[in-house]
Amino acid sequence: MHVDLLAGTAYNPSTMPTPVPTILVFDSGLGGLTVFTEVLKARPDARFIYAADDAGFPYGRLSEEALAARVLMVMDRLIAVHDPEFVVVACNTASTLVLPYLRARFPIPFVGTVPAIKPAAQLTRSKRITVLATPGTVARDYTRDLIETYAAGCAVNLVGSSRLAGFAEAELAGIPVSDEDLFSELEPCFVEDRDGRTDVVALACTHYPLLLERMKRLAPWPVAWIDPAPAIARRVVQLIGPPVPGHEVDEGEATIVFTEGRDLNPSLRAALYDKGLPIIALEPLPLLQT
Ligand code: DGL
Repeated sequence: MHVDLLAGTAYNPSTMPTPVPTILVFDSGLGGLTVFTEVLKARPDARFIYAADDAGFPYGRLSEEALAARVLMVMDRLIAVHDPEFVVVACNTASTLVLPYLRARFPIPFVGTVPAIKPAAQLTRSKRITVLATPGTVARDYTRDLIETYAAGCAVNLVGSSRLAGFAEAELAGIPVSDEDLFSELEPCFVEDRDGRTDVVALACTHYPLLLERMKRLAPWPVAWIDPAPAIARRVVQLIGPPVPGHEVDEGEATIVFTEGRDLNPSLRAALYDKGLPIIALEPLPLLQT
């Protein structure tokens, strides 16, 4: 099977034990909410668990060994406790490394989020694209392979930011960073030479679309920004089918799990409400740091 933007395994909806699936959306933090919002729109009837492994955040700084061990350990716990029928790994840093291990370990389907290099290469006219990601995603063999396969005719500028995901978390909690700080992370995305300049920026970390409006305002020139969340939601529907009529789930059944079990400030609670998580059931899941 040919899979490019989204990594997914073929899945037969008729094998699902219940008509309304429980979907686990997983990230190191709150970036996966950009994906959760789109999947919620596509399957408003589903039961959702959103898991933020904030005890391990940010994943972008972890070695590949540490990250693989961490994600498998957290996923073991989440799957044992919540028994999802379907998992969306809404994290590029994790997906570009651990999807094969997850699929080998658990007998349920996983959809991942990987850098949108093929769509970026199709969209660019200048043949100069930027992939803005975490340092971990930028260093992956998986990312290099995508570039070789789909963007061989383009100059690909890989930008690994160690601060942007944290900025996005702060923004959501009502503590926005300064334009100067944001711009310093953004500036390397914009490259110009004699023959042209960057015209597409692929947001290859699910946190970054949370900052998109500010990034657009700070950009030195207009570019096309690619947020893969709508495509991931389409992929989920492709794999598990459209909403089941007559199975609407009450608003507020969605559960958000933080592995650190921290308290949320009122701004963050309000932001989660706006993102489709009106009732927050904090469920501390303390795990050893790797
Ligand atoms: N949201 C994650 C991603 O898509 C990464 C943030 C982190 O470094 O933990 O890559």
